[in-house]
Amino acid sequence: MCGVKCITFVLWINILSVTTDNPGFEVELTPLKQVIDIGKELELTCRVKACPGNVTFMWKALLDKFHGGDITNEQNVSRLLIRNISLAHKNKVVCKASCEGKVKEKTSDIQVFSFPQDPVLPKIKSLIANHTQKLNCTVHNVYPLDKLQIEWIRGNETLQENVPEGYDDDRVQNYSFVFNYTPSVLDLGKNISCKATLTISETGLQKTRNSNAEYGPGTITFSRNNHSVKLGEHLEITCRADGNPKPTILWWKEETEPAQNESQNEKLIISNASWSHAGWYRCNASNAVGSQQMRVKVIVLGPPNIPKIELSHRGDPKEGENITILCSSDDGSAELTLRLYRQPQSNASVALNNSAVLLNNSAVLLNIPSLKITDAGIYICEANNDFGTETSRINITVEAQNDGVKIVDLPVAILPAAGSLSLLTIAVLLIRHCRKKSRSNISDIPLS
Ligand SMILES: *[C@@H]1O[C@H](CO)[C@@H](O)[C@H](O)[C@H]1NC(C)=O
Ligand SMILES: *[C@@H]1O[C@H](CO)[C@@H](O)[C@H](O)[C@H]1NC(C)=O
Ligand SMILES: *[C@@H]1O[C@H](CO)[C@@H](O)[C@H](O)[C@H]1NC(C)=O
Ligand SMILES: *[C@@H]1O[C@H](CO)[C@@H](O)[C@H](O)[C@H]1NC(C)=O
Ligand SMILES: *[C@@H]1O[C@H](CO)[C@@H](O)[C@H](O)[C@H]1NC(C)=O
Ligand SMILES: *[C@@H]1O[C@H](CO)[C@@H](O)[C@H](O)[C@H]1NC(C)=O
Ligand SMILES: *[C@@H]1O[C@H](CO)[C@@H](O)[C@H](O)[C@H]1NC(C)=O
Ligand SMILES: *[C@@H]1O[C@H](CO)[C@@H](O)[C@H](O)[C@H]1NC(C)=O
Ligand SMILES: *[C@@H]1O[C@H](CO)[C@@H](O)[C@H](O)[C@H]1NC(C)=O
Repeated sequence: MCGVKCITFVLWINILSVTTDNPGFEVELTPLKQVIDIGKELELTCRVKACPGNVTFMWKALLDKFHGGDITNEQNVSRLLIRNISLAHKNKVVCKASCEGKVKEKTSDIQVFSFPQDPVLPKIKSLIANHTQKLNCTVHNVYPLDKLQIEWIRGNETLQENVPEGYDDDRVQNYSFVFNYTPSVLDLGKNISCKATLTISETGLQKTRNSNAEYGPGTITFSRNNHSVKLGEHLEITCRADGNPKPTILWWKEETEPAQNESQNEKLIISNASWSHAGWYRCNASNAVGSQQMRVKVIVLGPPNIPKIELSHRGDPKEGENITILCSSDDGSAELTLRLYRQPQSNASVALNNSAVLLNNSAVLLNIPSLKITDAGIYICEANNDFGTETSRINITVEAQNDGVKIVDLPVAILPAAGSLSLLTIAVLLIRHCRKKSRSNISDIPLS
């Protein structure tokens, strides 16, 4: 009968009854839009204005009756308190109010997210330049995963960005990112961090959480390459180690018991170097995650240690006996020349039929088989390097064999030690070795 016009009329009536029937009757719902953290509390207030009679409220989800909130109704206000927002509350909540048989509703849009804690990076034992390492970053209890992204950052530089892949559920979950990282030498000393960003609303509102990786010392470097110092001079070596937290630096000298901390602000400082400063030092870098050590050899440059001269024999040797004289040095700081010779005599006409033998790197041995009276004299052991010369001497007297009369070599003034006594040089020995002890051992052979 009425066709299309009739249907239009019926629909119009219907719409009126929901929205505009009573001109003074209004529904207000606050908030209309809410982005909220899972687990938080949310209160929605639905207020009816200009209803002359009693109001009936109903809360519902978009398609369903609403569950899980505490509802308080007053004359014309209804409050819905959700104590523990969960995933079930996301999307729409509708407040429906009836006034004298008329119904109106308002809808609140609720978006939930979860991002309760900073990303977690397991401790890294050490980061070593040019060594690839798997780094892990886990974001716990996060939602929604498709709005999450992370950045790997070293210093101020972004190394890589990642988004989750291959997850399935629409649920709060933990997600781990893996990054194959190869540090470069230039990166040492810079923090490495995982920065997680969750975009929590369409308007682009973001939350960011950042964690620095903790890692133990890996590479240790020294401030200088040359670790030698001249006697009396000053040497400073700084030890640097990468790590977070910043490693504590300890220096100590090897072979000192108990180990003594020699460091001053990460530096090994030797002022007025003496022989005893020479040797191996260790730099120990340690933090809460681990520790690492590196050795450095300090060389003290100066005149050689006083060498040692010894006679194989106790007491005065007798004519015809076999004797040996040992000239040795405990010095090895620099190139060293060891020589063993007899001090020249006024009536020197001694044929040198004896030859010195190199025993090892720091000793010369002279064998005198079948000692003669003329072999008596002062024997000198001389150590020489670029910084000076030191000598030791021994006065050898030879007891005549048959009548026991001691024939003593002619006394000769002791010449200043010098390399010029080359006439009777028996052995020259060039050695390189490390200086171990302080200078000592002035050979003191008792003579009867
Ligand atoms: C409104 O509610 C009150 C209390 O429930 C009741 O006493 C009163 O009769 C109601 N008024 C109307 C118009 O229904
Ligand atoms: C909130 O709900 C979650 C699960 O829906 C539950 O694990 C948690 O214990 C609740 N928290 C409180 C404070 O009730
Ligand atoms: C996420 O990690 C936390 C802490 O490690 C753990 O207690 C929780 O069970 C994990 N949650 C899931 C969904 O695996
Ligand atoms: C590195 O991170 C730690 C905290 O993990 C912080 O104390 C330190 O200041 C950071 N260092 C630099 C160079 O940013
Ligand atoms: C350096 O040490 C030597 C030997 O111990 C000492 O004689 C000298 O006075 C010291 N020099 C300075 C500047 O301290
Ligand atoms: C370095 O020093 C720390 C603290 O004194 C110590 O625990 C650690 O064992 C040392 N590291 C090494 C490799 O000796
Ligand atoms: C000295 O050495 C020679 C061989 O080198 C030996 O024949 C001689 O007996 C030795 N003389 C003495 C007194 O030991
Ligand atoms: C060299 O030989 C002498 C004599 O045999 C010995 O006392 C010294 O320890 C040796 N030195 C080294 C460095 O081997
Ligand atoms: C070497 O010793 C002898 C005897 O003990 C002594 O007469 C002589 O003066 C000494 N020579 C030197 C240079 O001291």
